[in-house]
Amino acid sequence: MQKPSASLSILSGRRVLLGVCGGIAAYKSADLVRRLRESGCEVQVVMTAEAQRFVGAQTFQAVSGRPVRDSLWDEAAEAAMGHIELARWPDLILIAPATANTIARLAHGHADDLLSTLCLASDRPIALAPAMNRLMWAHPATQANVATLIARGAQLLGPGSGEQACGETGAGRMWEPLQIRDAVAALFGDGPLNGVRVAITAGPTREPIDPVRFITNRSSGKMGYALAQALHQLGAEVTLISGPTALAVPAGVRRVDVETAEQMLDATLHSAGHSQIVIGTAAVADYRVAAPAEHKIKKKSDGLDLTLVKNPDILSEVRKAFPDAFVVGFAAETEKLAEHALEKLTRKRLDMIAANWVGDGRAFDQDHNALHVFWNGGERELPSASKTELGRQLADLIAQRYTRRADA
Ligand code: CTP
Repeated sequence: MQKPSASLSILSGRRVLLGVCGGIAAYKSADLVRRLRESGCEVQVVMTAEAQRFVGAQTFQAVSGRPVRDSLWDEAAEAAMGHIELARWPDLILIAPATANTIARLAHGHADDLLSTLCLASDRPIALAPAMNRLMWAHPATQANVATLIARGAQLLGPGSGEQACGETGAGRMWEPLQIRDAVAALFGDGPLNGVRVAITAGPTREPIDPVRFITNRSSGKMGYALAQALHQLGAEVTLISGPTALAVPAGVRRVDVETAEQMLDATLHSAGHSQIVIGTAAVADYRVAAPAEHKIKKKSDGLDLTLVKNPDILSEVRKAFPDAFVVGFAAETEKLAEHALEKLTRKRLDMIAANWVGDGRAFDQDHNALHVFWNGGERELPSASKTELGRQLADLIAQRYTRRADA
């Protein structure tokens, strides 16, 4: 696949749910899927029943690399990803072609097929690329429906003018796939963190005892990786400074691999130098072995004493070096959550802290988590959700607080 150009890199890692409706322009949507994927998007196609009269689901399955969804009543598909989960999956719902019928049904809040139900059950932005006969487009009913959807926040991509499949000429042609793709990139370019650079630490650190042993902790890095991805999706340029994890690099994010707390400190200070926001999700080992053995330690005696020395506190060092950075910390606590979190907020001079309970199987290495976020003069609880969802919510909150401070 072709490499995305710099301006299209904003699409990398974005999730687009492409609704395909029943119009002749549906054949162009297969190319649209390819164009979006070339630019790094993940595309999930949802077809209406009418769309399948024009193009077969297999075509979309082949170009999107994912099974097409077309029904609320497909038990196997629902078991794999229920429609409510599917409604939360995308960063954007793009309907191309959007027919007069679908536009009318969305304007009136119908939920009588999978696509209309997803639109109703989702809080993600919706973009419509209309395609219809020029008289249908110009009809006051269609125009009123489009106006209703725009007033609710839908983005209109097109239609263009020109020769139509029915032989007439006028407004109502679906935009070309490349034009739609560029418009989608521009929509994402409007993210609240567009042009903002973020350095984020994640995962555990490893502190060597000898060449084969180390001290570490249970952090999986999932929360940090989810947050990094969500920040990128808000338009930020994200550098993820990661301790050893089994996770894949989120699309569009730059990862710097480190092992020890000291390496993490160096990489974070380096990256913080050209970042506006610095976030510490890493579970940094508080102590390291004073003098790791050069060779493997042999089991000669019954006991073994290790002298530990304190590691530098990465976020405090960042704050010292960059007093103007917007610094966000995490607090993992087994008791007195709010008290400890507020103490860390003050001691480390953070702009925000996200606290969560740990122990008894909570948070560490789990897919779900809940957060209580504090800042000077405010707080917000983010109830239990998948780390992906929580990452999005926390990224939104960070963007809000950061923008407010930048505007002040
Ligand atoms: N942190 C850091 N450098 C360290 C230790 C922690 O940057 N050496 C960051 C973490 O990434 C997190 C925050 O500080 O954002 C809080 O970490 P936590 O371990 O909960 O707090 P500590 O300050 O280490 O306090 P304690 O272990 O006593 O709870």
